[in-house]
Amino acid sequence: MLEKMRKVFIEKFGNGDSIQEFFSPGRVNLIGEHIDYNGGCVFPCALTIGTYGMFRKRQDKKVLCYSMNFENKGIIEFDIENFTYDKKDDWANYVKAVIWAFGEKYGLIENGFEFLCFGNIPNGSGLSSSASLELLVSRILIDEFNINIDMIEAAVLSQLAENKFIGVNCGIMDQFAIAMGKEKNAILLNTDTLDYKYVPINLGNVKIVITNTNKERKLSESKYNERRSECEKALNYIKKERNINNLSEITSSEFENLKNLIEDETCIKRATHVVYENERTKKAVEALEKNNLKEFGELLNQSHSSLRDLYEVTGIELDTLVEISLKQKGVLGSRMTGAGFGGCTISLVEEKCIPSFIENVGKKYKNKIGYEPSFYIVEVGSGSRKL
Ligand code: GLA
Repeated sequence: MLEKMRKVFIEKFGNGDSIQEFFSPGRVNLIGEHIDYNGGCVFPCALTIGTYGMFRKRQDKKVLCYSMNFENKGIIEFDIENFTYDKKDDWANYVKAVIWAFGEKYGLIENGFEFLCFGNIPNGSGLSSSASLELLVSRILIDEFNINIDMIEAAVLSQLAENKFIGVNCGIMDQFAIAMGKEKNAILLNTDTLDYKYVPINLGNVKIVITNTNKERKLSESKYNERRSECEKALNYIKKERNINNLSEITSSEFENLKNLIEDETCIKRATHVVYENERTKKAVEALEKNNLKEFGELLNQSHSSLRDLYEVTGIELDTLVEISLKQKGVLGSRMTGAGFGGCTISLVEEKCIPSFIENVGKKYKNKIGYEPSFYIVEVGSGSRKL
């Protein structure tokens, strides 16, 4: 891949001198869904698939961007001293967003650059191709413009870029997992304090299979914001009696005593998901640490049911995949992952059963939904880095 990228770089930007090469992974969340904007605990990991980037500093102030994933967009150009969000610049807005966020805190970079990228994260799969690109650019700015910050701050700035420049109100999970990923480990992250710990993923003869619904995602952004405000509303009701900053500060038994304060059935459902999902995440990590994969799998299943029935972010495609997956031999657990409304599921599958899993789930899903899902068997990789 890198070989091909170098060729294209030379084709687009002239000679091949002083090219610097970078990689930034995608991520998958094992458990702890829709709670990173509620101060809860999440448990994602970085993947070995992701976005490759090639960089070369320029003497002037121009930034020239080319993506091998969007060749029809050609070279997208902007000036580091004068740029704004521009819909027609499409993916390159993420490059601008990160330069902007770093600039807010550390001043603008002094030189422009040439930038070529290629990503092998399937588009729209919910495996965070945009956060991957953001952290790729962050890593480049840190390394090539000597900005002295650690990768946690890079994650925070990338989230700021996404929230304020792109206008997507995401939590910190994706950026953190991608910035801080570690080979063969998942990250238990407290999204309130940003305390974290690495937990080795020793699954023995079990693998994590990602299945993509291949559903086109449309509604997800507006529904995402709607869920955020429903949680805020629930929090405000509870605040009348308990002085808390987020829903994850209370235990499930405290919540059972407080939930009658919430004067809205829908908001009760959303808050119930948040409080129990936070506890499930901690339990799941304990189960994994004790090598109890059966319990880990059951917690994944409970997480899915809660996202389906209480948080209502699944949909027929994700529910069908999980339902069929759980009927297959050698499956210990299955759930939707990421924002929902499409995207992917993860399933824990015994290695020897993977071929039949893929065949049966593929067939049955197509029968019901009308098109095929895709499967990826993932390896847990490390965070954004220079190659
Ligand atoms: C998206 C967001 C994350 C998180 C998940 C749901 O991936 O970017 O911040 O909220 O949805 O857990």
